[in-house]
Amino acid sequence: FWADVPEAPKDPILGITEKFLADSNPQKLNFGVGAYRDDDGKPVVLDCVREAERRIAGKNFMEYLPIGGLKAFCDESVKLAYGEDAKCIKENRVAAVQTLSGTGSCRLMADFMHRFAPNAKCFMPTPTWSNHHNIFRDGGVEIQGLRYYKEDTCSLDYDALLEDINNAPAGSFFLLHACAHNPTGVDPTPEQWKGISEAMLAKSHFAFFDMAYQGFASGDCERDGAAIKIFLDDGHNVACSQSYAKNMGLYGQRIGCFSIVCADEAQKVAVESQMKAIARPMYSNPPLHGAALVNTVLSDPQLKAQWFKEVKGMADRIIDMRGKLREHLEKEAPQRTWNHVTDQIGMFCFSGMTPEQVDKLAEEHSMYMTRNGRISMAGVTSGNVERLAKAMATVIA
Ligand code: LMR
Repeated sequence: FWADVPEAPKDPILGITEKFLADSNPQKLNFGVGAYRDDDGKPVVLDCVREAERRIAGKNFMEYLPIGGLKAFCDESVKLAYGEDAKCIKENRVAAVQTLSGTGSCRLMADFMHRFAPNAKCFMPTPTWSNHHNIFRDGGVEIQGLRYYKEDTCSLDYDALLEDINNAPAGSFFLLHACAHNPTGVDPTPEQWKGISEAMLAKSHFAFFDMAYQGFASGDCERDGAAIKIFLDDGHNVACSQSYAKNMGLYGQRIGCFSIVCADEAQKVAVESQMKAIARPMYSNPPLHGAALVNTVLSDPQLKAQWFKEVKGMADRIIDMRGKLREHLEKEAPQRTWNHVTDQIGMFCFSGMTPEQVDKLAEEHSMYMTRNGRISMAGVTSGNVERLAKAMATVIA
């Protein structure tokens, strides 16, 4: 039956992990996937999550959740994304369902668009997370590039971004990274977000925020939702994808939330019912454990405060490593400027290395990262940062 099935190309991000695992060099280093490590290079389970585990242990975890997932979890997630006092929450007009992390949320958005805005294209930044392309393609949504990043300055191409927003047909859909843009680490300033919001409002565009790194931009989960709040204050009804993979370290639990702010409560009921209608034939209902963990943390003020502290701890370690990497690169490769290493924020450093240089790093130094030159700073430690800088200096020389 399957003689004509060709082998699929490796995923540009998770394929790197496969290559890393296949390397027999004991000194190998993985800077590919965005998964947080401590300063010893070890995966981390947050203390607040351990405490939540203790609290829920032995409870009934074998029943089905409803199609839309754990309602209390969705309520807490929406508060985290839009703000405790958000008008849209008070007016009960946010449709939300639990999802299989950020990817599952984005896929629901794509399927929802395909069903209810079938001719709409989705504009997304160039570059963006590689899986965004796969998700919207498989969801049957046409993708259009949105100018975002200026290579020569390693910064936001704000004028081009606004021009693309202004030139897009009225009522277009835009995927925006709420904070800690992946892969560039370049976010608009609050003033620029305001300008983007106003331009999008003038053209009646729709904003879909992918918020996979809430807390990793500023170290403050609430502050990292600022772009969304600017849009809400301006009167946008946005959609949002949330993931707890990075900020709660729940990678393998596949836990996230997809929400759409609606015009009123009646619209919310209809929209939420259609989100469930899409989810049911795809995976029936989402898994329970991660939702129970997140809900336990978010619904207890003490645990939530502890979580905020722990996220800040992770974000601060990355900031520290950015400083060290820059210092070493300035010493080892002074022919280039390296200020972008510390100017960029979030989990990634968009280094400016070419795909060929990245290949050399893997072949000659057993150091792995995506071919677009993205370094997962979460994998950089006090023990390997100098080695990384030295190896980078050799391949770019
Ligand atoms: C990444 O960009 O490394 C993460 O979002 C993990 C993934 O699934 O690609």
